[in-house]
Amino acid sequence: MALQSIKYERGSLLVLDQLLLPAHKEYIDVKHTRDGWEIIKKMQVRGAPAIAIAGCLSLAVELTNKEFETLPELASFIKDQLQYLVTSRPTAVNMLNATKTLSASVDELVATNTLTVDIVKERIIEEIECMMYQDISVNKSMGWFGAEHILERFHDQSVNILTHCNAGALATAGYGTALGIIRTLHERNRIKRVYFTETRPYNQGSRLTAYELVHDNIPATLICDSHAAILMKLHDISAVVVGADRVVANGDTANKVGTYQLSIVARHHEVPFYVSCPSSTFDPTMETGEEIVIEERPHIEMTETKGIRIAAPGINCWNPAFDVTPAELITGGIVTEFGVFKPGELKEQLARFTI
Ligand code: MRU
Repeated sequence: MALQSIKYERGSLLVLDQLLLPAHKEYIDVKHTRDGWEIIKKMQVRGAPAIAIAGCLSLAVELTNKEFETLPELASFIKDQLQYLVTSRPTAVNMLNATKTLSASVDELVATNTLTVDIVKERIIEEIECMMYQDISVNKSMGWFGAEHILERFHDQSVNILTHCNAGALATAGYGTALGIIRTLHERNRIKRVYFTETRPYNQGSRLTAYELVHDNIPATLICDSHAAILMKLHDISAVVVGADRVVANGDTANKVGTYQLSIVARHHEVPFYVSCPSSTFDPTMETGEEIVIEERPHIEMTETKGIRIAAPGINCWNPAFDVTPAELITGGIVTEFGVFKPGELKEQLARFTI
């Protein structure tokens, strides 16, 4: 059975608590936007697409169970709650993009002057539900395009892929972005082995990606983040494939901290480096990666493991959660639901497909 991090039906949202994985599989009952904000902030749900989907679904649940008297009351509630959700984490852009899209829909629906409060509410809930269903099909398209592109170089051979963090079913509505490509390659029997980093300090790799790879029986090997260079020197890595939190106009890409160093090592060893992300991760309002706000997380994530102090008390720490990979190091391409593009072409290509 496919891994489900988000279980939704009209009026009810259950989100798998990723802080408890892999030891416990427990779902959190999300009833309000406030709950949505909290589970995102605490990283009980994480990954750029999943943040947007869980956040918007928390609003859909609250809307379903709440009465509104007037259209202005409904419209300002929806827009305020969306703005609030955006404040939960700053680097991933998907929640902000969803906010822009849904706020524009609210304005358009209200401007018709013909729709009742209940109809506008229903349309917005449907639009949010549609985002969830679309995410899975978008991921499957990226899986197809990414797998085709990688396999072009390898004819009938199987491939070794290195990935970082968790860009799988747990980070999306299902199937995954980078792990979606890996799943497609596996479905075609073309995966020799997946190597994946533990992804310190939050361990999205050892806790979450490992969980997904074991769940799907994909041959895989866990490495420490610091093993990447020796891995690429001694093992035959066919491609590095990672997800993204925000890709800006020139193709610079923010993703989990450690991605940048992987891209440098990949360039040195002539291993193609791919970013896989839906068009909802694209931010054309920023020209270069310099403008991206990098979230800094609490030091405790580095100094403690499960409540046990592992760093000497009194030591200073720095814990940026993301870094920016410059476009020129994304040598394989950026895989989207519309195809695989060179970073410098992405803006133009997405404009063609999304207008
Ligand atoms: O801090 P996280 O776990 O939310 O960071 C997640 C990542 O960086 C993922 O690689 C990215 O969001 C892509 S998820 C499909």
